[in-house]
Amino acid sequence: MSKQSTTRTPRSEPSLSDHSAERSEASVSPANQRLQRLAREHLMLHFSDMAAYGEGNEVPLIVEGEGCRVTDAAGRRYIDGLSGLYCLNLGHSHGAEIGEAAAEQMARLPFASNWTVAHPPSIELATRLAELAPSNLNRVFFTSGGSESVESAWKLARQWHEANGQPQRRKAIARRDAYHGVTLGALSFTGIPVCRTAFEPMAIPVTHVSSTNAYRHPRGDDPEGFRKALLDEIESEIEFQGPETVALIIAEPVQNAGGCLVPPPGYWQGLRELCDRHGILLCSDEVICAFGRLGEWYGAQRLGYQPDLLTFAKGLTGAHFAMGGVMISDKVAAPFLDGRADYLNGLTFGGHPVGCAVAMKALDIYERDDVLGNVRSNEKVAEQQLASLCDIPIVGDVRGMGHFWALEIVRDAETREPFEGEVAEWLLKDVLSEKLWEEGLVCRLDDRAEPIVQIAPPLTAGPELFEEITQILRRGLEHAAERAGERG
Ligand SMILES: Cc1ncc(COP(=O)(O)O)c(C=O)c1O
Repeated sequence: MSKQSTTRTPRSEPSLSDHSAERSEASVSPANQRLQRLAREHLMLHFSDMAAYGEGNEVPLIVEGEGCRVTDAAGRRYIDGLSGLYCLNLGHSHGAEIGEAAAEQMARLPFASNWTVAHPPSIELATRLAELAPSNLNRVFFTSGGSESVESAWKLARQWHEANGQPQRRKAIARRDAYHGVTLGALSFTGIPVCRTAFEPMAIPVTHVSSTNAYRHPRGDDPEGFRKALLDEIESEIEFQGPETVALIIAEPVQNAGGCLVPPPGYWQGLRELCDRHGILLCSDEVICAFGRLGEWYGAQRLGYQPDLLTFAKGLTGAHFAMGGVMISDKVAAPFLDGRADYLNGLTFGGHPVGCAVAMKALDIYERDDVLGNVRSNEKVAEQQLASLCDIPIVGDVRGMGHFWALEIVRDAETREPFEGEVAEWLLKDVLSEKLWEEGLVCRLDDRAEPIVQIAPPLTAGPELFEEITQILRRGLEHAAERAGERG
């Protein structure tokens, strides 16, 4: 499958180094043709311009994975530089081993719910997650994914305030550009206008404050001044809303959308202090950052803070089962345990026994193979490798942590002038995306905020994969810089 860029990809869509693919000799097998036709006739892709997949433009078909690589229907191999969708943390080679655990559980008890009953796999998994978490988080409510986790955290927050005599706390604060899911409750927290506008008014009153993009903030070059400016802004938003009406602040340890936005030192400790002072609950949304992405089990441990609620999903099972949850602190759990409140929430598949068995096996593999240690030891190499691309005129900033990195693409690295509008879209989605795809790299190109390229390979990758990715990025970015220069 070769890659063709498309100018029809809407700006709302981040591109997995991109979509519709030109018909190549190798991909015209009858089996592939059949799948292409059926995909066009029956499958609705997520956040995709379906019109782009007409005659002559193929839907990219990933058919196999091994280690940190995937193979398409035409037999071409690509580096999975995005761990599927920031979720395939253990790579593509543990499916058989994890599958055995799933098969055993299916044979014993394929399903039991967590509605008023329990079963051993959910009890064992909840206990294990609590043992791995910051010391105040000792209870878990399971869900089927990230959006449900975020909504479940919101319900806990609302009911907690109500049980404590503060039912008027109905508002939340989140950050601009942040992605917290797109189901209608979670969408309220998402700070990306193009995802929200069509569905307004939002279900939950959420206001959005600045992200931690140091490269774009006027105080970003001074970590202490930056931290203070961000926290002052949040405090003035709390004051403006009325502190007694705010229920929750939600943020990711390192924000994904906008491009791996690492907060300045002390930021999360400042959020903690603000929340405590104003009686607000603090939720760490770790749908991406938990389970090793930042080199620790939870991002809160990497950055040294204790949230009241912690949402997770993707990496728990290494994406071998659709599963997520909320870690609940002792403080938040209290009214649900002493009879002041019944949690008004339930999901058929939350705590699915097969999912729990899969998660337990995935956690065994994380521990057995010291996957977190691998991430920590790769971090410096990743940083050095990616930073070496800063000599390319369109690379403005390199940032990230662990196995979670972004490059911000700019028109002028001196002035930080961004590419905007159609030019940004052309450069990212036509030029760069096409080149990276041809070179065999799946990564994310996103222009919902400033244009970025994102790299988040499986946590099992060795340092040499970052070197290979960097070489591909160099070829892609130099090509894009040249094309941008021609266009002026
Ligand atoms: C931080 C964060 N929260 C929530 C979600 C929503 O998760 P899901 O797509 O599983 O509903 C995502 C998805 O990428 C995410 O990154």
